[in-house]
Amino acid sequence: MTVKPTVLQELPADLECERLPRHVAVIMDGNGRWAKQRGMPRIMGHRRGVDVLKDLLRCCRDWGIQALTAYAFSTENWGRPSEEVEFLMTLFERVLRQELREMVQENVQIRFVGNLQALPQSLQEEIARSVELTQHNQSIRFTVATNYGGRQEILQACRAIATQVQQGLLQPEQIDEAVFERHLYTAGICDPDLLIRTSGEMRLSNFLLWQMAYAELYVTDTLWPDFDRKAFYQALSAYQQRDRRFGKL
Ligand code: IPE
Ligand code: IPE
Ligand code: MG
Repeated sequence: MTVKPTVLQELPADLECERLPRHVAVIMDGNGRWAKQRGMPRIMGHRRGVDVLKDLLRCCRDWGIQALTAYAFSTENWGRPSEEVEFLMTLFERVLRQELREMVQENVQIRFVGNLQALPQSLQEEIARSVELTQHNQSIRFTVATNYGGRQEILQACRAIATQVQQGLLQPEQIDEAVFERHLYTAGICDPDLLIRTSGEMRLSNFLLWQMAYAELYVTDTLWPDFDRKAFYQALSAYQQRDRRFGKL
């Protein structure tokens, strides 16, 4: 079940390449509903969702978007039935193993954000391998949020900074936004310009709370497994209609 990019190989002519978001973040929601609508088990939606993400990554690269971040598993998702959690962990591991060679060939740099130590050991190893082998790649920066929670990320940054203060390495008045950002999982990655959430829910679900301060939000009713290049084009079109004022006039 592969999603083939039969249309829109190149940036559609009515999108202005100078005004594309530098960094797109996606909350890939609706896999379960997609499967349910077809009378299939939820895991089929997750499988299909992987193919959609693969094509979106290629599309971002083809269209000149520098960074893509995808929410794959939240700290809250551990609350799902254990069979689904186990399926997802196995799926992540398998996909990483299968896709690594192509990511290397296609010059993709992969990174992970989240509390990775709590993931299964074999998945952690696959993650470490893929990060190491793609670290110098430059066509696109692809970040996967796995066991990620925005509040947890902020708390671990606070703890690390507090420890430095306690050790006398940092003065409280030196803590500014730049210092704080260096302690987030996303250190070195620019903030998302555009957040896309599929399947209609109007919430952040604990995703990139600090980083999303000025992101443009785009919610579509399209379910993630149906989110193709045309749907992405529509999101970018909407983004280009926005007036990003950043508090100014
Ligand atoms: C998103 O799809 C994928 C993950 C959270 C891993 P869902 O599994 O949340 O699908 P719905 O929202 O139940 O349809
Ligand atoms: C958000 O989707 C998390 C991911 C896409 C990984 P959820 O389906 O978990 O979010 P809620 O439960 O609707 O807030
Ligand atoms: Mg959901």
